[in-house]
Amino acid sequence: MENRLKQIREEAMKQIEASDALDKLNDIRVAYLGKKGELTSLLKSMKDMSAEERPKFGQMVNDVRQVIEEQLEATKTKLAAAVREEQLKAEVIDVTLPAKKNNVGHRHPNTIALEEVERIFVGMGYEVVEGPEVELDYYNFEALNIPANHPAKDEQDTFYVNDKIVLRTQTSPVQVRTMEKGKLPIRMIAPGRVFRSDEVDATHSPSFHQIEGLVIDKNITFADLKGTLAEFAKELFGPQTKVKFRPHHFPFTEPSAEVDVTCFKCGGKGCRMCKGSGWIEILGCGMVHPRVLEMSGIDPEEYSGFAFGVGLERIALLKYEIDDMRLLYENDIRFLKQF
Ligand code: DAH
Repeated sequence: MENRLKQIREEAMKQIEASDALDKLNDIRVAYLGKKGELTSLLKSMKDMSAEERPKFGQMVNDVRQVIEEQLEATKTKLAAAVREEQLKAEVIDVTLPAKKNNVGHRHPNTIALEEVERIFVGMGYEVVEGPEVELDYYNFEALNIPANHPAKDEQDTFYVNDKIVLRTQTSPVQVRTMEKGKLPIRMIAPGRVFRSDEVDATHSPSFHQIEGLVIDKNITFADLKGTLAEFAKELFGPQTKVKFRPHHFPFTEPSAEVDVTCFKCGGKGCRMCKGSGWIEILGCGMVHPRVLEMSGIDPEEYSGFAFGVGLERIALLKYEIDDMRLLYENDIRFLKQF
């Protein structure tokens, strides 16, 4: 019996020493100390011993049991530490690696140009207002002195929702909506999206943006219009910039003009940018037609005013020397990041 006990002790110790995983230790515990384990069956066989041998042997079995338990516990601690060590090695964070860069968004060149235009006019005391993109035919055409048979209403130019409703082809209807409110004087700009039934190419798009301007007060003259737009052009393109007013026709202004600025690239000498002329066209304008004032409930004998309309994309293309409008709509971050 004693030999058997010694043998069990040695075998257990050997197995514990050889085990390299925590679950193996558990198997060993069951095999030696479990209910049907080696030591337990040895204890059971004590019933054949004499009364004085029994406690002595019992003590010996318990001693062996304690030794195995201690060894199991020590090995368990050692193995757990090794596992933890492995884990730490695998999950190590190298704080010297370069950080992942966050992609920060970027303002669109249209937005940058619009904010610049707004800054200039707000500085001159203008209010920024908005109007609907889906607009009544009345505001888009009729109230702007564009009668039913006018070519601008052609189905090729205009997206019709129905007979009475269109996608606005210009921001000019916001003039009428502002005047109808009846609050005078008026000094406003109205930026927004407009729509024309155009094919996409380097200078056209079925959807683009305009900025409308309107000033109504007593004694407003063409001199006010000229001074305002000359100041605007200087602020936008640089202090050397000159303006030139060419007679033109718009149904809602009389007289009307198109405005050119001296080419900011060559200063007026003539270059590729201005196609050799030294001038670049930037907007349309004029004195608000008395009939338009009347239709909006303003007495043209008492009040007068001027209006202008700027193409926002045109400003962005010129200012940032972009040669194809399509680039503005493609949302290619490599392009957008440059402004
Ligand atoms: N609405 C015109 C267009 O789309 C531009 C324009 C011209 C606006 C003259 C005006 C103006 O306010 O006075 O072509």
